[in-house]
Amino acid sequence: MKIIITGGAGFIGSHVVRLFVTKYPEYQILNLDALTYAGNLENLRDIEQAPNYRFVKGDITDQAFVDHLFATEEPDAVIHLAAESHVDRSITDPLAFVKTNVLGTVHLLNAARNLWQPLGYAGKTFYHVSTDEVYGSLEMGPELFTETTAYDPRSPYSASKASSDHFVRAWHHTYHLPVKLSNCSNNYGPNHFPEKLIPLALHRIQQREPIPVYGRGENVRDWLFVKDHATAIDAVFHRGRVGETYNIGGVNEWKNLDLIHLLCDVMDEKTGQPQGSSRQLIKFVTDRAGHDLRYAIDSSKIMQELGWKPSVTFEQGLRQTIDWYLENQQWLNRVTSGQYQDYYRQQYAAR
Ligand code: NAD
Ligand code: TYD
Repeated sequence: MKIIITGGAGFIGSHVVRLFVTKYPEYQILNLDALTYAGNLENLRDIEQAPNYRFVKGDITDQAFVDHLFATEEPDAVIHLAAESHVDRSITDPLAFVKTNVLGTVHLLNAARNLWQPLGYAGKTFYHVSTDEVYGSLEMGPELFTETTAYDPRSPYSASKASSDHFVRAWHHTYHLPVKLSNCSNNYGPNHFPEKLIPLALHRIQQREPIPVYGRGENVRDWLFVKDHATAIDAVFHRGRVGETYNIGGVNEWKNLDLIHLLCDVMDEKTGQPQGSSRQLIKFVTDRAGHDLRYAIDSSKIMQELGWKPSVTFEQGLRQTIDWYLENQQWLNRVTSGQYQDYYRQQYAAR
């Protein structure tokens, strides 16, 4: 089986690529990524020589390129993660999100249909990886997002992901494309780009710089360890039912301020700073426009139907993450200085 994984140089994509390359040596994995600011091939250094792995630099907003790639590579499956993924960037540049997340997804759907429909679709899969943010925002309380919660996206990012989800389902209903979808909560873990809350806070604590907390830090997110998201994607890809959607979450809700306090305290303990000193770096800043109050997800369908469950507690996952950032300061330095972008030129362009 040949699988195109899009966005494989990004945060979650790199964990999915590694899992598939190492767990399924019989598969050919093609990592298709445009290497935007969020793409970092250093994330895959350990597996880039694997015989069943290849990287292709390309942009899913370019239909001609996507069509050519599908026609020449003839993939059996697509796992689609490539996206613009940061809510704050979507507020300042929404069009980039429409181009990659909506148009790029439709280009992939078109290419997959053109290749597979004449073959009758047997053994083919188009798997779209999405977010729980499509469901909108919850009030404080016990309510959870389920697979039947009505879509109510409220940021340009979530609107673009909701739109792409709708297009994926439309290709299933209209053209019978064999699709699968999953909508996951906030991920954390190694290789997370330091624009998102957890790696940004860890970086600021290391640098002894202010940690920006939007508003009063009251917003709630449900955090899942990225390697557990990758195993959930593996489960949905192999055992999920065609045409179905699976919600994936950590049953692990945290108010932003409580989470930052925890990060500060663990960092103080691990770096020998006086207890409480990192908390002094917290700086309350202007709230994000349209800031969704709470996300929380009901994962019972994937747990019961596919037998998936997270492998680590939040305590374990967070400690692994913090250890990773402390042991990989060079990764962080190269990302924050921009040096990571030279890696492609050095490793691949000359091949
Ligand atoms: P990321 O921003 O870390 O990585 C995105 C990757 O896509 C990068 O490697 C980038 O170079 C690539 N890319 C962007 N535009 C492209 C284009 N036009 N053509 C080809 N490649 C392009 O994102 P992430 O956090 O790893 O998220 C991956 C997917 O999972 C996204 O679809 C996102 O919506 C979804 N998701 C993310 C989270 C989360 O917490 N990060 C949670 C649920 C779902
Ligand atoms: P983020 O990591 O951007 O993920 P998302 O917006 O997709 O949930 O943000 C997580 C939460 O942290 C969100 O409520 C916004 C908040 N936040 C801050 O308070 N400060 C920051 O510097 C960032 C990046 C986020």
